[in-house]
Amino acid sequence: NWTMVNIADESIEAVRERVGEKRVICALSGGVDSAVAAALVQRAIGDQLTCVFVDHGLLRKGEPEQVEKDFVAATGVNLHVVDAQERFLSALDGVTDPEEKRKIIGREFIRVFEEAAREIVHGGAGSAGEPAEPVEFLVQGTLYPDVVESGGGTGAANIKSHHNVGGLPEDLQFKLVEPLRTLFKDEVRALGEQLGLPAEIVWRQPFPGPGLGIRIIGAVTRDRLDILRDADAIAREELTRAGLDRDIWQFPVVLLADVRSVGVQGDSRTYGHPIVLRPVTSEDAMTADWAKLPYDVLQRISTRITNEVREVNRVAVDITSKPPGTIEWE
Ligand code: XMP
Repeated sequence: NWTMVNIADESIEAVRERVGEKRVICALSGGVDSAVAAALVQRAIGDQLTCVFVDHGLLRKGEPEQVEKDFVAATGVNLHVVDAQERFLSALDGVTDPEEKRKIIGREFIRVFEEAAREIVHGGAGSAGEPAEPVEFLVQGTLYPDVVESGGGTGAANIKSHHNVGGLPEDLQFKLVEPLRTLFKDEVRALGEQLGLPAEIVWRQPFPGPGLGIRIIGAVTRDRLDILRDADAIAREELTRAGLDRDIWQFPVVLLADVRSVGVQGDSRTYGHPIVLRPVTSEDAMTADWAKLPYDVLQRISTRITNEVREVNRVAVDITSKPPGTIEWE
């Protein structure tokens, strides 16, 4: 595709011109946008770029490995991984309010990223032996719709506080490199393929920054995260097996951790948690329809989750459109 080749070449050239010999950092979230932005910048300036991946423990099964192994293998990028799972868990201890969870996760993310950035700035992580040149630029995977949304001033009510690597502290001010600023999501995916990123990353469905933290209704604990991760992995596996990945915009799986219901398994009574499936179709996440998944796919997901995830004894499907329901439950 000629257009994409041009976009890739032109963007690579533009990044080179903008950053020159300076050092650059980038936060990887596991999502498509930051991955494509980082891959493009890596292609442009190689080892001048260091990527930071904060493992907050709220990702889905296999996602940290996707970043740490597959992404690095595909791009050869310098990656600095911070295992911050304990830190996020203790910051979230006992917190049930959705907005409070979001604020805590956003705040901790910025703190951890800031610490890592300082280390890279002062320690010169990445390049062996060379004197540490200060980091001047920060890569962000801002897309065209984000630019329009933040500049549009539509006065839309702040329904949920979305978190991204935004408000970095004063003393850590970077110039921004935003190589995806003129692109839409489908163009970003095409560019990602062009840059040789694995399909699992390029075709990943949107996933919220606060991750599984806002898909556990109730307080976030390690056990609950494990339950949700197992159920979510089954739902995704069956969706993929049915060949429906690209027909569905997003497929949140939600754990009602503070709810229990009575069930029966073999000869014994169970008292477990419900899992809610929330498959939706959408163009842009502003509005969404509940997805009419085939009954046999729903049945396989339900059977497998109740068989394989011990603490779950009931599976429900959310059939609410947006509005009035949002896509995520929190
Ligand atoms: P809602 O739940 O508001 O979600 O219908 C709309 C879209 O935004 C995603 N989402 C987030 N993305 N940080 C993000 O980067 C967040 O805090 C966040 N909250 C929701 C959600 O997954 C859906 O695609």
